[in-house]
Amino acid sequence: MSFVLEVDNARISYAVPGGTIRAVDGVSLQLAERETLAVVGESGCGKTTLAKGVLGLEPLVSGDIRVHGQSVSSNLKGLATRVGIVWQDPYASLDPRWRIGRSIAEPLLVNRNGKIDVDARVDEVMRHVGLEPAMKRRFPHQLSGGQRQRVAIARALALNPPLVLCDEPTAALDLSIRAQILNLLKDLQSSLSCAYLYISHDLTTVRFIADRVAVMYLGKIVEMGPTERIFTDPRHPYTRALLASAPTLEKLGKLPDVLPGEIPDPREVVGGCRFKSRCPNRQEKCDVDEPDPTFEDGREYCCHFPVVRES
Ligand SMILES: Nc1ncnc2c1ncn2[C@@H]1O[C@H](COP(=O)(O)OP(=O)(O)O)[C@@H](O)[C@H]1O
Ligand SMILES: [Mg+2]
Repeated sequence: MSFVLEVDNARISYAVPGGTIRAVDGVSLQLAERETLAVVGESGCGKTTLAKGVLGLEPLVSGDIRVHGQSVSSNLKGLATRVGIVWQDPYASLDPRWRIGRSIAEPLLVNRNGKIDVDARVDEVMRHVGLEPAMKRRFPHQLSGGQRQRVAIARALALNPPLVLCDEPTAALDLSIRAQILNLLKDLQSSLSCAYLYISHDLTTVRFIADRVAVMYLGKIVEMGPTERIFTDPRHPYTRALLASAPTLEKLGKLPDVLPGEIPDPREVVGGCRFKSRCPNRQEKCDVDEPDPTFEDGREYCCHFPVVRES
């Protein structure tokens, strides 16, 4: 199988007063062509930092990230044609002074290879995302939130990249618009054959859109596997807690009091399992040994005392 994205033991840190935040702390994953992998977890677990690593916007401390077999760090220039990005807030990601036609055209102009008719491509990609090409003379503030996110999607897809990162693409939208944008992303994937790395704390949308799910906690993937298996039979106590708190999580982006304890300060180096301070299954081993991944029926999880399926 050829992978559009390979992340090997990637680490990304931020130097902050009082220490270092290991925002991405040894993440490994692969994404096949046309596949959707969702990355879920509470705010601050490192999802956006991981996306920035894939885009080459944050350097790796160690490990490697490859897009179509090429290291991101060694080919930053070519990356724009192979990775599209849709951020959470289309207002922030579109230049307010530019008519939207110009925003959509920009990646085409920057990476122009001479053959593309830019105007025709802008019209085409606007139609793909359900916008009338006549709207291209408008400014972002003259559009609704949903229309603005359609523009951001059109811009991400303008160069027809094989990989598109979506960082909470529906989080800033009204509930009624959210479903439209999700359906659009799903339709575009089948017509344009791209793979999605879909970042979200909203488990409902993840179940709808993802083939596989990776659950992140404090910079690390603690469980990963096919979507239905993760939702119906979680192994990691954190995954189970996330699922149990789904409606609240959707609103707040953080766990309610289903689990005791707080997320540890990411500046502190934790020994043993990083989830131990909140884990209902904690035993002595968890304080000293960081669990290695266990592979089981196409999924993996990092836990010494996994959840046993309730029958
Ligand atoms: N530019 C930055 N400088 C310092 N710390 C950062 C920076 N960006 C993110 N962080 C920290 O890194 C951790 C992961 O953040 P982030 O990747 O934004 O998480 P998420 O997207 O899952 O909410 C958090 O502890 C956050 O405070
Ligand atoms: Mg984020």
